Amino acid sequence: MITEKNLTEAEQLFTNVFKTEPAFISKAPGRINIIGEHTDYNFGLSMPCAINRWILVSFSPRNDNRMHVISHDFHEQLEIGMDEPYTPDNDWKKYVYGCIEIISALKKPEHGFNAFIQGNVPVGSGVSSSAALEVAFMNGLNELYNLQLDRLAIIKLCQRVEHEYLHVKSGLLDQYASQFSKANNFLVLDFQQMSHRYVSAALENHCWVLCNSMVARTLAGSKYTERVEETQQALKELKTYFPEVKHFRDIKEAHIPALKNPVHQKRIKHYVLENKRVEDSVLALQKNDLTRFGALLSASHISLRDLYEVSCTEIDFLMGQAVLLPYCLGSRIMGGGFGGCTINLVEKDKAKEFSTHIKSVYKKQFNRNAEINEYHAVDGASIILV
Ligand code: GLA
Repeated sequence: MITEKNLTEAEQLFTNVFKTEPAFISKAPGRINIIGEHTDYNFGLSMPCAINRWILVSFSPRNDNRMHVISHDFHEQLEIGMDEPYTPDNDWKKYVYGCIEIISALKKPEHGFNAFIQGNVPVGSGVSSSAALEVAFMNGLNELYNLQLDRLAIIKLCQRVEHEYLHVKSGLLDQYASQFSKANNFLVLDFQQMSHRYVSAALENHCWVLCNSMVARTLAGSKYTERVEETQQALKELKTYFPEVKHFRDIKEAHIPALKNPVHQKRIKHYVLENKRVEDSVLALQKNDLTRFGALLSASHISLRDLYEVSCTEIDFLMGQAVLLPYCLGSRIMGGGFGGCTINLVEKDKAKEFSTHIKSVYKKQFNRNAEINEYHAVDGASIILV
């Protein structure tokens, strides 16, 4: 948890380095995605929530025209003039510098700033530490320069950082969840309407357990782009056959056999049915039908494995073992895929047993240690004046 103590610590660390107090702390959480995977960039539906892990960025204005940004966790810093040409040489600097360049192009900053980044969102574990950093940083710059951008406009700028500085054509799922989540709720996102609503996440006797396969997501970038392109080509083809198909969301199951490429048929089938599973999950949750909800989660995995083909052996094993346990209602690969985590709906009082069992069978099978963590739904990003 980020507590008063953590915030005091953030202020102290900042003051120690910069010899001045921060003006405010911008806080943004990581996320889990309950269901609705690989749908966001095609205007589909998703159901994520922010989790109890955060990035904190403390800011203070400077009198000169320099920026000095320190990453506590990477033990690195970026210190340059606001107008100085600069090429970031690693990912955290790309995120930060991307935010600054994009904001500076909107309105030339009148002064520089100090910023200190710290946090407890695990990096490279599929819970979107990068989105948490972008959202915390972008919200922070908005506050610092009094730009009065709205919260939706801000996450669209964060998405531009992903596209233009990381060269991944990702959707808005991660940033949306980090910015707009509400404690004890899931966000139901409609990327066609660019709208959201909430559905209660209060599961009395169940909890969310993530199993990190510790398989590095090396293909994640290139294969992600491949999926984006495959689905775009498929839409283009369907538009030529069916005048009623103008957007992704107009595609119905009946249109799919017309696609010439069987791979495109599989990708689009996943998309159409995954959107339906999000709608069905909302209904199942409203009826408190967790058995049905769990079955939808597992069906999502099978689809991501067989139709969208973004899973891998280790993840399939973790899912397969989880659903054998009577106290695990559903399990699926989460996030971009090609490694990373599974998300599991588990009876609360069996969470420990679940973790011990999965760790042991995983180690035996792959001689690798799975990392297992429980998360819950928290509020989205905020600015804390200090
Ligand atoms: C990654 C991307 C998201 C989304 C998921 C898959 O997390 O950043 O935009 O596409 O993959 O659902």
